[in-house]
Amino acid sequence: MNISITGLTKVYPNGHAAIKNIDLEIGSGMFGLLGPNGAGKSSFMRILVTVQKSTSGSLLIDGMDINDQRNKIRPLIGYLPQDFTFFSKLKTWEFLDYAARLATSLSKKERLTKVDYLLDQVGLLDVRERMANKLSGGMKRRLGIAQALIGEPKLLVIDEPTTGLDPEERIRFRNILSDLSQKDVTIILSTHIVGDISSTCHNMAMLNKGEVVFKGSPEGMIDQVRGFVWQATLDDEEFNVLKMKYPVVSTIPVDGKWEVQVIANEQPHPRAKNTNPNLEHAYVYFMENELGVSLV
Ligand SMILES: Nc1ncnc2c1ncn2[C@@H]1O[C@H](COP(=O)(O)OP(=O)(O)O)[C@@H](O)[C@H]1O
Ligand SMILES: [Mg+2]
Repeated sequence: MNISITGLTKVYPNGHAAIKNIDLEIGSGMFGLLGPNGAGKSSFMRILVTVQKSTSGSLLIDGMDINDQRNKIRPLIGYLPQDFTFFSKLKTWEFLDYAARLATSLSKKERLTKVDYLLDQVGLLDVRERMANKLSGGMKRRLGIAQALIGEPKLLVIDEPTTGLDPEERIRFRNILSDLSQKDVTIILSTHIVGDISSTCHNMAMLNKGEVVFKGSPEGMIDQVRGFVWQATLDDEEFNVLKMKYPVVSTIPVDGKWEVQVIANEQPHPRAKNTNPNLEHAYVYFMENELGVSLV
């Protein structure tokens, strides 16, 4: 699967530009879209899955234009929206069977086989009789994935699936997605959680205020901040001065002092030493840069 995006822009009727002139190439495997709230992730995804139109620019999926080949593109896509909810009166398996009736033309028998296959794949077979709205947050998200997989999509688009999940569920969820991406399904996942990207995606882009501020690999993003992450042990007063000037990425109290990490283009304090960057540092760097904070 190849997704080719040029100059994609979305301006809402109230004049707000949520997506600004995005250029992006997305290939097979798992692609991570990282960005804070309001970055434009959901707007982008709704355009990609053809539930909303762009204002300008082009988006081609395997050469097909989303604006005039929607009917061909739709069956290729499974989508889990950010605000996905369930009908309250259905059991877990019934919900999935309902989704299968909408999305496929399978016979009842075929549907039931498929439903149990998918429930097993996302680890929900033993709760198939439970009411869908009584599932835990993580289980609901997994049922959402099963629902998105029902039409055997080639492209799975998942909007912030790990928000609100506890660490164990988050890891389980990531593992399910990794398995799927091995099975010839292209996955595009949005998140504001750096750990979701670093542990699953080889390719990524970071969005901030509607713009792509980085595209490449997580390692490539980390490389961009090498030399800009500094660590120093400071007393209260030194720390107070420093935090006025530079974005702070971590603070750990040690023996009445502060072990502080900041982002800065030059040595921010005489005792500060360069430290190895990680994706969290890179995220802060690209956020601050975009906010126009000068990294002195
Ligand atoms: N229907 C809409 N009308 C007007 N503004 C919108 C609409 N949907 C989203 N926005 C605005 O567009 C920006 C991007 O929103 P969104 O795509 O939801 O970002 P994200 O998913 O990254 O949080 C936000 O400032 C949001 O308030
Ligand atoms: Mg969103």
